[in-house]
Amino acid sequence: MHGETSLDDYHYTMCEKYGHVARLRGGMFGLQADGLYVTDPAALNAILVRNQNNFRESVEFSGLFGVIHHGDGLASVYGAEHKKQRRLMNPVFTASFVSKLSPVFYKIAHQLRDKLKADVGNAKDGRVIDILDYLTRTALELISQGGLGHSFNSFDKNSREFTEFHEALKTVLPMAGRIFFVLPYLESWRKLEPLWLRRFLSNAVYYLPWPAARKFKWGVDTMHPVCANLFKQKKKVLDEGGISELEKTTSGGKDLATLLISANQLADDDDRMPDEVVIANMSSIVLGGQETTSGALSRLLCLMANDNDMQNRLRKELLDAHAAKGDEGFNYNELNELPLLDAVCREALRLFAPVTFVWRQTIEDCVVPLHFPIRDPKTGVETKELLITKGTSVYVGLGAANRSAAIWGPDASELKPERWLGKAVLDGTANSVKMPGIFSNAMTFLGGGRACPGMKFALLEIKLVLSVILPHFSFEAVTEEIEWRLGITVVPYVKGKVGEGPKVPMRIKAI
Ligand code: HEM
Repeated sequence: MHGETSLDDYHYTMCEKYGHVARLRGGMFGLQADGLYVTDPAALNAILVRNQNNFRESVEFSGLFGVIHHGDGLASVYGAEHKKQRRLMNPVFTASFVSKLSPVFYKIAHQLRDKLKADVGNAKDGRVIDILDYLTRTALELISQGGLGHSFNSFDKNSREFTEFHEALKTVLPMAGRIFFVLPYLESWRKLEPLWLRRFLSNAVYYLPWPAARKFKWGVDTMHPVCANLFKQKKKVLDEGGISELEKTTSGGKDLATLLISANQLADDDDRMPDEVVIANMSSIVLGGQETTSGALSRLLCLMANDNDMQNRLRKELLDAHAAKGDEGFNYNELNELPLLDAVCREALRLFAPVTFVWRQTIEDCVVPLHFPIRDPKTGVETKELLITKGTSVYVGLGAANRSAAIWGPDASELKPERWLGKAVLDGTANSVKMPGIFSNAMTFLGGGRACPGMKFALLEIKLVLSVILPHFSFEAVTEEIEWRLGITVVPYVKGKVGEGPKVPMRIKAI
């Protein structure tokens, strides 16, 4: 049986319990100034789109990501600098480029299928397997080959490169959650001069009697050289042999980093990103694209394991499509045209947003409109406007907005792929409430100038992996319950066995 925790519930049920604007006493972590938790469609549109320059990425997260990525990439800048970087980066993430990654993705999905086949064998009852481990390896290969043009040999259980990099990747965010009270100072810390003093103090972290800070530092120091070295290698190849030399690398030169480095070289002097910013952006692509994807895929397989009928219907759609096509691979458009696969992915990503909230800070006092009126607690008067004062932390509830019954209808918290079948996107919400999200009217990939650039990449990965494994295996839930715990992202554990680390056991049988 796969269930959810109260923490998960907290983010998913906010609208029902507290409406579409709520005051969070002590902020998200309970020890800061009060913040606002917002899911109101009109307010979100103002915060993320119309007045986005007034709601910057929180100082805590911009400082944190600046430290993690060793530079001012997308995750740590705002305003004009953020816009400039996105102008250079957005073209790299378009469907026309992403779709060219299908052959690379298929190779990886086939490796996953073959590994699973070898491990599950032909036993009638199959085997109970921790599918998260397989999907973590798959997601890291997809993002490292598709994003960086590099392989960590993730399917090789003895791959030191995978073990180290993955350990670092999965360490930094949970450890950042444990050192949260230093987060407000990291942005100023990064500007501390002279550099030698900053380096000296930074290395002193290894001697602190604070294991979380030491582990965080280790994670950051392990991740950074990988991206920095890949950048140097690529730049050298590009300088010496041009793009034709990069075409001989793991991804055939079609990975996001190669495209980004090439675009950056061609950019005007004013727009060109310094090397450390390109490296920071390579690093944010890996961090942004790994756990989100492995989490989403694990969630989808949990949903299949709990709903045999949906699993069978989806398998049939895939088998019929394979039979009609005569070979195994669908291209980007063909995958998007499979109606049930599309509906299941939309619905799972709506109901279980892998990133549950984003954190913004208000630069100046600002009045935002409200779609759902609120009552002033002092006067009892109803209002359709909200004054957000300078410095207020605003938490945009992505998971909660995606489950609001006022927005999606009374069945908002049910998994209903048919919500999307044969319907226009807006028909998914009750009363056609328009949300500012870029995905299916949902907030999963955010909206506005900071919306996830990797959405098409992620959807291709998810659909392609499902299309490869579902025809070959059946997935069944086991008695152990899965607890999805909220850190900065949502991570699955076996209930009562959190100490064993993230896991999703399920029974898998070869078909
Ligand atoms: C299911 C998978 C994914 C989900 C749900 C997701 C969701 C999000 C969300 C909500 C944000 C906004 C964060 C914020 O503003 O604080 C974001 C930003 C970002 N995502 Fe994704 N993401 C996914 C996959 C990916 C992939 C595969 C990539 C790379 C190929 C990627 C790259 C990024 C980057 C670089 C940013 C920063 C954008 C900016 O600040 O302008 N994401 N993502």
